[in-house]
Amino acid sequence: MSLSAANQLQYHHSAARMSFSTISKPSNGTTWAIHRDSCTHRGSAPPRIRLAPKSSGGGVTADFEEGQLERPKWTGETPLSRLVRALISFKPLYSVMKLGARQVLISTAEKTSIPWRDMTKEILESDVYKEKDSIEDNSIVYPDYYLNPFHAYDEGNLSWLAAAEAEAATMSMVRRAVPSAPSLQEANQIVRGNWLQAIEDHHLKHSGGLQIGQILDIGCSVGVSTRFLAEKFPSTKITGLDLSPYFLAVAQRNDKRRNEGENRVRWVHGNGENTGLPSNSFDLVSIAYVFHECPQRAIKNMVEEALRLLRPGGTFAVTDNSPKSKILQELSPVLFTLMKSTEPFLDEYYLTDLEGVMKQAGFANVQTAMTDPRHTTVTATAPF
Ligand SMILES: C[S@@+](CC[C@H](N)C(=O)[O-])C[C@H]1O[C@@H](n2cnc3c(N)ncnc32)[C@H](O)[C@@H]1O
Repeated sequence: MSLSAANQLQYHHSAARMSFSTISKPSNGTTWAIHRDSCTHRGSAPPRIRLAPKSSGGGVTADFEEGQLERPKWTGETPLSRLVRALISFKPLYSVMKLGARQVLISTAEKTSIPWRDMTKEILESDVYKEKDSIEDNSIVYPDYYLNPFHAYDEGNLSWLAAAEAEAATMSMVRRAVPSAPSLQEANQIVRGNWLQAIEDHHLKHSGGLQIGQILDIGCSVGVSTRFLAEKFPSTKITGLDLSPYFLAVAQRNDKRRNEGENRVRWVHGNGENTGLPSNSFDLVSIAYVFHECPQRAIKNMVEEALRLLRPGGTFAVTDNSPKSKILQELSPVLFTLMKSTEPFLDEYYLTDLEGVMKQAGFANVQTAMTDPRHTTVTATAPF
């Protein structure tokens, strides 16, 4: 995939006051630093967040620059967005685009050293199938939106192929988010590292000393975000919850292979809108890269469910596409058309005022920061 628009990361100097926090070290020994412009910016130039190695001696310099718009022109109810929707709704064209989107995803991943087809084969030829029986809750009634074709899979997330490809797709998403990072590991240090740092900073500041003991990862997929949470918060118990028993089967299989006997993660087949888990039982609820796949009513339900599940002082963290991301606002027509053809709820996501939904649900201290060039992390506190 030509990610020319996505590669347009430029350094921007700002005289604004900056706050500063460090995250884990990349392999080359430098330390990444997040610099947040914290001036008020209404009516003036948009705020920018940049990330650079703390040591100024070369290395990757990325810029989390906001565009001039509230959201990309290709989303929501703009003429361009409606035109793209009309194109996609034309079935023969949709079938071609679906295949195109898939080819682009796989070839882009493999060009950046993500062995997509080998990873998929390894899962499909493993004993993963037996895990599904131990995890699946047959009483689950799937919401309508979850039964639609999705991500170019006719059965959406309810298929072995989608589950087997999910980890490679996640790696690819991370690489696309920071095209200037020289390796997946370094891209992860920005995408996952900054997300985790935003959570930790928020919790330290607003939790009133509540220790993080129990974490819930809603929409855990095959467990990649769950693994990052487990590493960041080592003395915690974690629940990974997802609606796809196929994804959870892969998560459980991978977890067993990685952490024999450790058992820190409990995998739960459930709906994040109504988990059935006990109220006030978690100190941190995280929802990573789920909301752009959901209609607005599901987003609202999940936010309300997170509030019910959190103890007072507990932290809620949502990370997902940033409507303000300059890269996303300037995505090429080919790329945004392909993306929209496999993500049916992007328009609803971009039209959702997430911070407003959280405040309305009753969350306090709602804060937003771009944590990489494409994504935003919104953190909030369950009131005392
Ligand atoms: C892009 S994946 C999440 C990736 C993962 N959190 C990570 O950061 O690596 C989105 C996940 O949300 C799940 N999902 C969507 N709607 C859901 C719901 N209502 N309840 C639980 N999981 C849901 C999907 O099954 C899918 O696994």
